[in-house]
Amino acid sequence: MQPGAFDVTLSGMTDGPMPDRFVGLPPHLPQVPHEPYVPGVAPELAAKRYFDIMDQRRSVRFFSDKPVSQETIEWIVRTGGTAPSGAHKQPWRFVCVNDPALKREIRLAAEEEEREFYERRASRRWLEDLAPLGTDASKPFLEIAPWLIVVFALVKTDDGGQVYYREESVGIACGMLISAIHHAGLVTLTHTPSPMKFLQRVLHRPEHERAYLLLPVGYPAAGCTVPDLRRKPLEEAMVVNRPAGGAGDGQRIES
Ligand SMILES: Cc1cc2nc3c(=O)[nH]c(=O)nc-3n(C[C@H](O)[C@H](O)[C@H](O)COP(=O)(O)O)c2cc1C
Repeated sequence: MQPGAFDVTLSGMTDGPMPDRFVGLPPHLPQVPHEPYVPGVAPELAAKRYFDIMDQRRSVRFFSDKPVSQETIEWIVRTGGTAPSGAHKQPWRFVCVNDPALKREIRLAAEEEEREFYERRASRRWLEDLAPLGTDASKPFLEIAPWLIVVFALVKTDDGGQVYYREESVGIACGMLISAIHHAGLVTLTHTPSPMKFLQRVLHRPEHERAYLLLPVGYPAAGCTVPDLRRKPLEEAMVVNRPAGGAGDGQRIES
């Protein structure tokens, strides 16, 4: 046991005879004291301040080529890596690209997929939903932004072990990565060229890594604009306890 660690009996695991399925399992990790994060202000204020920062986050599609240091990207990736994950398997890899030739290769391959998507693969409904955002198959930001972070989800750990809740774990890590990018005063776009398999080939990633998101990272271009979107108000996003009556009460859609 490490110095400062204290032993804790995990409830239900050591009382009475050990069930067969626990025999031969690795020992549990030593428990160490939890160091709480103390914001120094009341939770209401701390939560509101964080909201005020995150409420300014927008997906940006017009980037400047102003450089961003690798150190900045490293801190951002470290933050992504603080995410919780199923059985702590950390099923992610963040491939960070700043080589202009490689960015160009990614842009050309992504645009090829995107042309196929806009011209053939996307349903009419999908195109209707995308129309207000004004997106198309052209992705110059993949070359202009100083960095591309390509997030890969691991279907197995690097040593061939099982992973659990891969989608949820990598999704949470991406959320934390995006908040770290924003917090650093940078912008990104959650980009999902569909399908993304070309990224595995272009970036020489092994078979157990699946491309998950492509995030250009940098500064917004001068005069950058964003679609005038509205976010769901709290009353629509949040439910406290449950509505009176049966399942779905209050959410019935009139036919
Ligand atoms: C999973 C996911 C995939 C997305 N894929 C794309 C994409 O491929 N291209 C794009 O321009 N925007 C993409 N977006 C960005 C959304 O259009 C954007 O988040 C949404 O319009 C809300 O705008 P905001 O991020 O500025 O609040 C994606 C967002 C998410 C969460």
